[in-house]
Amino acid sequence: MCGIVGYIGPREAHPILIKGLKRLEYRGYDSAGIAVLNSTLKVYKTKGKVSDLEAFLVDKDISGTIGMAHTRWATHGEPNNVNAHPHFSQSEELALIHNGIIENYAVIKEELIQHGYVFQSNTDTEVLIQLIEYIKKSSGSTLLEAVQSALCQVVGAYAIVILSKTDRSTIIAARKGSPLVVGIGQDEFLLASDASPIVEYTKDVVYLDDEEIAILQRGEKIKIKTIRDVEKHPEVTKLELNLSQLEKEGYDHFMLKEIFEQPKTIRDSYRGRINEGNDVISMAGIIDHIDRFMNARRIIITAAGTSWHAGLVGEYMFEDLARIPVEVEYSSEFRYRNPIIHETDIVIAISQSGETADTLAAIELAKSKGAFIYGICNVVGSSIARASHAGSYTHAGPEIGVASTKAFTAQVTVLALMALAIGRKRGTIDTPTFHRLVAELQTIPEKVEQTLGLDKDVKEISKIFTYSRNFLYLGRGYNFPVALEGALKLKEISYIHAEGYPAAEMKHGPIALIDREMPVVVIATNKGTYDKVVSNIQEVKARQGRIIAIVTKGDSTVKGLADFCLEIPETEEMLVPLLATIPLQLLAYYIAVNRDCNVDQPRNLAKSVTVE
Ligand code: G6P
Repeated sequence: MCGIVGYIGPREAHPILIKGLKRLEYRGYDSAGIAVLNSTLKVYKTKGKVSDLEAFLVDKDISGTIGMAHTRWATHGEPNNVNAHPHFSQSEELALIHNGIIENYAVIKEELIQHGYVFQSNTDTEVLIQLIEYIKKSSGSTLLEAVQSALCQVVGAYAIVILSKTDRSTIIAARKGSPLVVGIGQDEFLLASDASPIVEYTKDVVYLDDEEIAILQRGEKIKIKTIRDVEKHPEVTKLELNLSQLEKEGYDHFMLKEIFEQPKTIRDSYRGRINEGNDVISMAGIIDHIDRFMNARRIIITAAGTSWHAGLVGEYMFEDLARIPVEVEYSSEFRYRNPIIHETDIVIAISQSGETADTLAAIELAKSKGAFIYGICNVVGSSIARASHAGSYTHAGPEIGVASTKAFTAQVTVLALMALAIGRKRGTIDTPTFHRLVAELQTIPEKVEQTLGLDKDVKEISKIFTYSRNFLYLGRGYNFPVALEGALKLKEISYIHAEGYPAAEMKHGPIALIDREMPVVVIATNKGTYDKVVSNIQEVKARQGRIIAIVTKGDSTVKGLADFCLEIPETEEMLVPLLATIPLQLLAYYIAVNRDCNVDQPRNLAKSVTVE
């Protein structure tokens, strides 16, 4: 979702700002804009891509060493030039960029209209900057005081950056519920909604906390105050990000690069957490709170999108290995459902970005009822990581493609480790099984490597289905979430309608859709329910559906039935999702490429959904 970049220092601001916006393009957006301070405060913005903004800026004076830029993902008001950020205040003395939503904007707008304010856009953002100007002018306060007062009045989420025509050496920025990072360089500051635009210039960063305001001035140290004027000590942390992680490195798309990174990212997810003898899994978040896990009566997993699918895999794992009942909830439903939560519950929140607004809200709700919150996040220092009592990072490195791939397999790996560690402590898994599973987990990177060898076959198969209008994905047990994830990948990036179903449920509806036009992807690796899945395949065949099957190497029964067969290495049932997902990611990828879709930035989607 929306992206923010800011700069103040000795260099020309606009090249840094534009480059920063490009680094944030992956988040998803529909318009872009920039503001620079030179002889005056200039704002330029346009609907479309950052490249459109660049073209628009060609003949404009955008020199200046202080500025800010924004990519907008429309919430209030359609994507157009006027609604794009930055927004001016009425007198054009102030300009603002904003991520998030001001929920009480309508009431404030009404009051400001009474005071003679006129609005150009339909955005909640313009209301905020007009409010700041109104407070500043009517009370004679400083800009900082006006910002503090305005932020005490607004309800909702924000990451904001403000420039003032009358103060050429200051940037004011603030956050609540929407991330904002300050980079501290040599006599310069950078600002961004995540670290990717900053890492090129400095590794020293300060993550703002909710209701904190950063005051960034040339020649001064960073100052942080809360919206209630309490001074805070800035905590500087070192970024672990590398620039190369943000480049495509020869791949056509980030998504393909990220699919091929999975042998490494899965290894990185368990690296340092398993001892040499394969008999101890050490995860600080579990060890430090072992009583909570020993006494847990229930685990609730809350997440959205792909992370929710990882949660479903986790459900099977925790129930199999740790014998704790699990419920998997969409965060967006959970937060509004008045759920029954006990102090003996463990709530596991899974989120790649660590910023998903619904998941954050679900955490706050569960916390208020006394549950213990365990966060599984990919982005270090993210809001969900900080809101959790304990947690584990997935260590998959930055995921740029909007469609999540390596983050999913990293989440599943961390869930496997957790289920094994907790099962071991609770005594619900015997020692030989524990050793066998832990050893097998460490063969997965090699097996993913082998599975990636299917790339060429999948590419060929994709050509046959490029223009299909619907797809059905079927799987059972651990492979049911894989079916859901395969269908989601295809929908997200190729815009083909796809549904994932538990294979046996096909009879209760989807079977009516099957005809010779309908490709059906079946994940048929299960040991326990193999015969049943074979029967489902027969049922599809009998109706002339076309089968693409994912099978275990050496399978001959399904091979004899399916139109296309993709063989993956044999592994333990609970680890199959780590392999079976790979050909489905590739299939979605190649179909999207064949259809000329924007793979890394699919229409209407955002990487990090920071609004409801
Ligand atoms: C968006 C992304 C998905 C992601 C979901 C949850 O919809 O496009 O790829 O799975 O958000 O995001 P999270 O960061 O919480 O895992």
